[in-house]
Amino acid sequence: MLNQNRLRIAMQKSGRLSYDSKKILNSCGIKINLTKNKLIAFAENMPIDVMCVRDDDIPGLVIDGVVDLGIVGENVIKEKLIYDKINYKKNKYKILKKLDFGICRLSIAIPVNNTYNGLLSLNNMRIATSYPNLLKKYLDSKKISFKSFVLTGSVEVAPKAGLADSICDLVSTGATLEANGLKEVKIIYKFKACLISNNKIDYVKQNVVDKLLTRIQGVIKARESKYIMLHVPKNKLEQVVLLLKGAEKPTVLKLVGDNTKVAMHMVSRENLFWETMEKLKLLGASSILVLPIEKMME
Ligand code: PRP
Ligand code: ZN
Repeated sequence: MLNQNRLRIAMQKSGRLSYDSKKILNSCGIKINLTKNKLIAFAENMPIDVMCVRDDDIPGLVIDGVVDLGIVGENVIKEKLIYDKINYKKNKYKILKKLDFGICRLSIAIPVNNTYNGLLSLNNMRIATSYPNLLKKYLDSKKISFKSFVLTGSVEVAPKAGLADSICDLVSTGATLEANGLKEVKIIYKFKACLISNNKIDYVKQNVVDKLLTRIQGVIKARESKYIMLHVPKNKLEQVVLLLKGAEKPTVLKLVGDNTKVAMHMVSRENLFWETMEKLKLLGASSILVLPIEKMME
């Protein structure tokens, strides 16, 4: 039985978002023991319960107040938004935060052996999809007529089964398309995961939501940032700082036995690519260390 005083969060049971949803909650310090077949897990150290459900059910559960928050793809949200608009339904949830995972695209794919010469090739096609409203919005804007064939799962088998000429589905790695003899011909939208919330959250739970949001922001910032330590020629300090967009001013320390260089420590907002490291090297920097940051609070 769910305790009404605890914050309830829904996440995807099994699919693209499951691993990262669990990971971000863990990184926020929420101790949950989510085993494979468990539908509900109770956090030991915070008043939070986590429910694992089908991703498509998450907006409904949030709207009905069965759960307070949900971690779900923008794809599910945007599709529902259009559906609600058409059916004069009001939005009873809000997007609290865009997350940094679950990156995917909604694409049109056709059998590998078929030819594609731009969007006109799709004219009058029968397209299988779980996203009929997003597909219609896009193709209407391009004045392409088509028939949608709505399927809630296994969309990728529709062309082989003779149910449709092409599909419009989410693509992440592209493995599902490849395994089903399909090729991606047009990306129509791009999405990420996001955290949504019911509009009515009482003040006790709101405190937990605020704490969670601050932690999520900290986790995302930490994931985007790196701690960098390096030795820099004194006369190149400014140029090095320009290369490394920092969260704060760098710390500069003396080096024992070397008057030409100093040691510099700083948090860099950008993921440091090899190209930046090579530019630092050209400026005369040495002993360059880039370390991951676990937590961050500003
Ligand atoms: C999507 C989509 C494909 C898969 C594509 O499913 O329907 O099945 O991801 O990923 P890939 O390009 O890495 O192979 P989703 O995770 O949304 O689950 P669902 O269809 O069960 O809702
Ligand atoms: Zn789904």
